[in-house]
Amino acid sequence: MKISLSVNGTRREIESPPLARLLDALRHQLGLTGTKEGCAEGECGACTVLLDGEPVNACLVAVGQCEGREITTVEGLGAAEHLSPLQRCFVDHGGAQCGICTPGVLISAEHLLRRDPDPSEAAIREALAGNLCRCTGYQRIVESVRIAAVLRREAADASQGVKGAS
Ligand code: FES
Ligand code: FES
Repeated sequence: MKISLSVNGTRREIESPPLARLLDALRHQLGLTGTKEGCAEGECGACTVLLDGEPVNACLVAVGQCEGREITTVEGLGAAEHLSPLQRCFVDHGGAQCGICTPGVLISAEHLLRRDPDPSEAAIREALAGNLCRCTGYQRIVESVRIAAVLRREAADASQGVKGAS
């Protein structure tokens, strides 16, 4: 079956059985290996991507359900040579260690910060509750998201200032 979907803002077409996992289509057909496979049964969150702006476990989504829809993977947040402020905070503040959970955590955090630019620690922990990490003890992840939220608010304020001055 031919399936057309938008991935990180680019229209892509793949040939796939409709019940194949979105996770496999992303990693093996589209070469987007940033999205990780952990448990393969919807428990760990390593495979989290945004589907029409909402977080889903790509190991549980059939690619046939994605026809005409918008997918955002960790590659859509920034590139290695141009990390987003959120990604940079994880590097700078120890939010990423082995990195297996990191793409899914970043996607969940991005979803949170789009909805809530100034989240409490409890809100950050709740937003990331579906993303398991065996390395960090979570505190550094929470701190990375909190600092990223501050930087994003400062950038938004600065850009409002520039617009206001022009
Ligand atoms: S690999 Fe999908 S939730 Fe664990
Ligand atoms: S950084 Fe290793 S599992 Fe989270």
